[in-house]
Parts: sequence; structure tokens; C-alpha cells
Amino acid sequence: MRLTALAVSLTLTFVSAQALAHQKGDLIIRGGIANVDPDASSSALVLDGTAIGRSEADVEDNFQLGLTFTYMLSDNLGLQVLASTPFKHEITADTGDLGLGTIDAGETKHLPPTVSLHYFPMRPDSRWQPYFGAGINYTTFFQEDVDSELEGVLGRGDLTLDDSIGLSLQAGLDYRINENLMINFDLWYVDIDTDAEFEFANNRIRTDVDIDPFVYMVSIGWRF
Ligand code: NI
Repeated sequence: MRLTALAVSLTLTFVSAQALAHQKGDLIIRGGIANVDPDASSSALVLDGTAIGRSEADVEDNFQLGLTFTYMLSDNLGLQVLASTPFKHEITADTGDLGLGTIDAGETKHLPPTVSLHYFPMRPDSRWQPYFGAGINYTTFFQEDVDSELEGVLGRGDLTLDDSIGLSLQAGLDYRINENLMINFDLWYVDIDTDAEFEFANNRIRTDVDIDPFVYMVSIGWRF
């Protein structure tokens, strides 16, 4: 009787550990809040072909809803796609020697779809599943607008930002609550570089901007 109870208990422990596992063939969908926090730097602003001394563009951070899909290629390798609602960023310009101080220059929306390969170093039955990854990001900018503050100086204008393709590095952690549910924290560093061009009736400003954001996401995950 005691042996049977022990056997049942061992079997249950084994089953629950197996059930918690990240396993080959699993699809994990995580949804939560994501922040794109640019670590931006730029070349000097070039006004009608002449660089403005000590000038620089900067890009502000933004929160949106993030969604990731991970397919487990093996017990330790996952392929992840990052999707989100469009991020909206304010662009500011330190006008340097032009002497206008720091002004609101424009805003843009963007979508940063990123495909990453993850390595999960822990045993598959661990509740804690840290992972490390690398991948490729494609960022497309749209609904770019020149801010009214800059238009107040140069008149009505248009803003264009080039698409960017770059590498991303990633670290994350799943904590498994039960067979299907998990809490997740994800962190990406993404190489996003773009060429910003402001066009006005009589003037043109351009600058190369390295946006290079950290992307943070806190989410709830579900294993299918
Ligand atoms: Ni870069």
C-alpha cells in the first residue's frame, strides 16, 4: 500500500514536471506591454547642404501592446516573431549653432517586426526558463509628420524616414505558473538606423539617426 502510494506520487510528480516542460512543437503566445526606448544618436543636422555645428536629433520612447509568437523547434530552441500595435515616437532636434535651442521636430509611427532564434539553457522541466536570442529586425516608418514648432520656423513641411534592416540581441525569462500559463519578461537591443529628411518649400534638413532602442516587454504567455 505504501509502495503503491509512493509509486502514484512519483508518477504524479513526473507527469506534472513533464507537463510544465517547454517542448518541441509547442506554440507559445505572449501578450503584454512593450516599451521602445531609443538610445538615439545622430549626425549633425544638414540644412541646405551645410552641417549645423553641435546640432543633433533625438527620439523619445513609447509604450504599446506587444505580442510574440514562439514555436519550439526542439526542447531548447525556439523561433520567435515579435509583433505590436504601431509605436509612435516624438523626434526632437537640438538646433546647436542655429541657436533655436531644442525644438519638437516631428513624429513618426513605426512597426518593428523582429524574428529571433532563442536558446533555452535550462532543463525542459524547469519552471524558470531563461533564454538568449539573436535575430533580424525590419522597421518600417509611416505617418511621419513635421511638428508645428519646426513648421513655425520653416513653414509647412514633409518628413520621410527610410526603412531599416538590422540585427537584434535578446534575453528573456518565462516563469511557468502551470501547464499552460506563464509570466514573461523580454528584452531586445535592436540596431535601427534611418535617414531622416525634412522638406520645406525653400529648405531641406537631413540627418542620419541611429535609433538603436532597447525594447522591454512584460507579458502573460500561453502554451498551446
Ligand atoms: Ni545602429
